Amino acid sequence: MTKTTTSDHVLIFDTTLRDGEQSPGATMTHDEKLEIAEMLDEMGVDIIEAGFPIASEGDFEAVAEISRRSKNAVICGLSRAMPRDIDRAWEAVKHAARPRIHTFIGTSPLHRDIPNLTKDAMADVIHETVTHARNLCDNIQWSPMDATRTEHDYLCRVIEIAIKAGATTINIPDTVGYTAPRESADLIKMLLERVPGADEIIFATHCHNDLGMATANALAAVEAGARQIECTINGLGERAGNTALEEVVMALKVRPDIMPWKTKVDTTKIIGLSRRVAQVSGFAVQFNKAIVGKNAFAHESGIHQDGMLKNSETFEIMRPEDIGLSETNLVMGKHSGRAALRSKLGDLGYDLADNQLRDVFVRFKELADRKKEIFDEDLIALMGDGTDAENDRIKVKSLRVVCGTEGPQSADLTLEIDGEDHQVTAQGDGPVDAVFNAIKTLFTHDARLQLYQVHAVTEGTDAQATVSVRMEENGKIVTGQSSDTDTVVASAKAYVNALNNLLVRREKTKP
Ligand code: KIV
Ligand code: ZN
Repeated sequence: MTKTTTSDHVLIFDTTLRDGEQSPGATMTHDEKLEIAEMLDEMGVDIIEAGFPIASEGDFEAVAEISRRSKNAVICGLSRAMPRDIDRAWEAVKHAARPRIHTFIGTSPLHRDIPNLTKDAMADVIHETVTHARNLCDNIQWSPMDATRTEHDYLCRVIEIAIKAGATTINIPDTVGYTAPRESADLIKMLLERVPGADEIIFATHCHNDLGMATANALAAVEAGARQIECTINGLGERAGNTALEEVVMALKVRPDIMPWKTKVDTTKIIGLSRRVAQVSGFAVQFNKAIVGKNAFAHESGIHQDGMLKNSETFEIMRPEDIGLSETNLVMGKHSGRAALRSKLGDLGYDLADNQLRDVFVRFKELADRKKEIFDEDLIALMGDGTDAENDRIKVKSLRVVCGTEGPQSADLTLEIDGEDHQVTAQGDGPVDAVFNAIKTLFTHDARLQLYQVHAVTEGTDAQATVSVRMEENGKIVTGQSSDTDTVVASAKAYVNALNNLLVRREKTKP
């Protein structure tokens, strides 16, 4: 293996499907996971952490299928420091052309207390479990969870044990987003200096964003000798999220003068992945998010616009095309054909099979009948609309609402449930509340609404609204999303979409 510090390449380890999906409410379906993995592989990430195979049957199946379909990337499965976890991870990743097992244990004083292990006892567990993993697979990643709050002497000791037992990558997680750039760099430097065998393995950096420093901490670690960055698309992840893939990759691309490390990522695929992950996770990207936010390349002030027209470099350090944003916002309408739609969706990062295009084309025509001009954003919203799937148990058949100053506001709703129509009229505090009450009457459930969010997709009074709904039932969190020019219809469909996802979750987690 090459010496960690001398390589001018940084490996990109994407954990959107594991650490990202672990974020409450970000659950993705099996098919969505396969689609994201394929997009990541095509984009050129080096390693895809596809899931936590022991966590559920669904996770296992997704990691196994992603492994079978993988083309270039190493496929990694996470496991705790337990032989049965490691075996399960191996069962799932062994189908990959290039499999990796990632095993971890919390090494900081707080984490050692949970299993109530002494330092010596934990060192033995690390030796046994890494040896066990290495006997199954020759590509082993080991993580001392909460490394940034672990005593340095102990951290050096356990890393040495893991290397001797066969770990080929040592990941240094800042599990609670506690560190800062200088400390992040010093830690890697210290480990490279003190741990015997450290120059024979790859050090990885895995940062959380609780203090908003995840990207800076990851890049500082690379400067000190780490050669693998663990990150997620859009920075998706628990609490404030993980290091954002698009941020580290673009920082390295834009500033090779001070950060001369290359990645294999095709940056023009960034925006397509960002949008798809936002859609399937239900976590919208904030407008001013670096690189992928709606405003990241927007210049509104007169001075900026003037400068941009004269020379785009006055206010732009990267070009929209670098991340796959096409400059034209070609307007489509009801006369646009299937070929034009395919080409436009291709520009937006969607590569559709013929049957998918057929389905989207029908929905595109329906939208074009109601909306004169269809913009990129409308198509993106259309692609993210998960409603009316063939196997949905609940479907919105018809809806009429009474709203305005003369209450009571009410909703007259017909739902198709398991193939049969059911109708009710319900009242509420406003039309959306009335619709949700009607749905609850027709399909009784105890799920609690956690979030209801409306975004205007474009400007203008005929704009579509995208509605996102998040609900929780016995700790299971699901999301639903729908777009329509009628906000109340979008709300009904988003709620029903979340319910359908809940029914799938119930089925999958049945004892
Ligand atoms: O943040 C963390 O510590 C993790 C580990 C499982 C690597 O995600
Ligand atoms: Zn993490």
